[in-house]
Amino acid sequence: MKDKVILVGVSGGIAAYKAAGLCSALVKEGAEVHVIMTESAMKFVTPLTFQSLVKKPVVTDIFTEPDPAEISHIALADKADLMVVAPATANVIAKAACGLADDMLTTTLLATRAPVLFAPAMNVNMYNNPIVQENLSRLRSRGYLTAEPGEGPLACGYTGKGRLPEPEELVEIIREFFARSQDMKGLNVLVTAGGTRERIDPVRYLTNDSSGKMGFALAEAAARRGANVTLVVGNTAVTPPSNVKVVRAESALDMYREVMERLRGQDVVIKAAAVSDYRPSETAGQKIKKTEDRMTLELVRNPDILAEVGARKSPGQVIVGFAAETTEVEANATDKLLRKNADLIVANDVSREGAGFGVDTNIVSFIRQDQPLRQLPQMSKRDVAEAILNEILTIRKDRV
Ligand code: CTP
Repeated sequence: MKDKVILVGVSGGIAAYKAAGLCSALVKEGAEVHVIMTESAMKFVTPLTFQSLVKKPVVTDIFTEPDPAEISHIALADKADLMVVAPATANVIAKAACGLADDMLTTTLLATRAPVLFAPAMNVNMYNNPIVQENLSRLRSRGYLTAEPGEGPLACGYTGKGRLPEPEELVEIIREFFARSQDMKGLNVLVTAGGTRERIDPVRYLTNDSSGKMGFALAEAAARRGANVTLVVGNTAVTPPSNVKVVRAESALDMYREVMERLRGQDVVIKAAAVSDYRPSETAGQKIKKTEDRMTLELVRNPDILAEVGARKSPGQVIVGFAAETTEVEANATDKLLRKNADLIVANDVSREGAGFGVDTNIVSFIRQDQPLRQLPQMSKRDVAEAILNEILTIRKDRV
């Protein structure tokens, strides 16, 4: 971490003492560390503790400007290569998610263009509160990073999720962040996400359960790693990330057109969308009125976008598909890999708990040509996204 400037924001939770360990470890790693504390953080640990560890003045008050030549929160915000908020209380997470800036920490959070990592730490019931979870998702959808809290006995007496990861664990996350921070720089990546809507009439359509979360996590992570990302989005339950170019596509035919138009020049194409295999043979111009007791809807096949992308694959392009299966996962995924001329199939058994549509976790395996299947453990969709991007980079390296 030599030459890296890391801004550590400490907010007011009992885990504030662990932030001292984090700062000390970051300094040992060679980083230049600056600390900002909130009013409540100072009730747990004194600024002097941090100042002694990082050998820099600790910033606590937005209106104290020690150097008349600069404005502290802007100078610090501009200087940082990474900002880490540890511990991040429910309060600071909520303020950041709403864009509030009523102290030095939250003001600097708004002013910085550096990546920000939030390490939440709080009581398990607070952490699981949907409001806190919504705020965290909101931050993630804007490209902020979040560290998963640890599980175990908490200071409040409860046992559960909410512990600040140990300083060494946080240092490992930060080390990994710097290692891969720009490893996709300059690559053009096209990701599709969400489900398609196949219109029956102006108010009705056929669709599926895809939430878009997996594709969004991929797009967001690739952009963070330096790629130029185009995200072709169908119907989704969550808001797309804001650090990528978003193209809307309602039906499979729309998605087919949008993808084909942008195929040239892409280094990587990831088809995470759940594309409807069929569409109504006709879309009624007016709302269909009920008449008989039975009604038959005729469906026709949609183009297979992944197969078409595979057929037109240019040298050097890496094509990734997904296989959402409920039976014979490996056999079906291997068949898709060959049939669609993909380089990687990310297979998951969507009937398993913790995998597939709507949830925040996934259990996937990687299937590549001439390679044994690689099963990954249950992970958050964000971690799965990072693992997929790592695998894509390995495929590119293996080719050289
Ligand atoms: N896919 C696609 N276009 C379609 C159907 C699927 O691009 N019309 C892509 C999906 O985005 C995914 C992969 O193909 O990356 C596998 O999707 P899946 O529905 O599991 O595959 P199918 O080929 O439809 O397989 P089957 O119906 O035989 O299970």
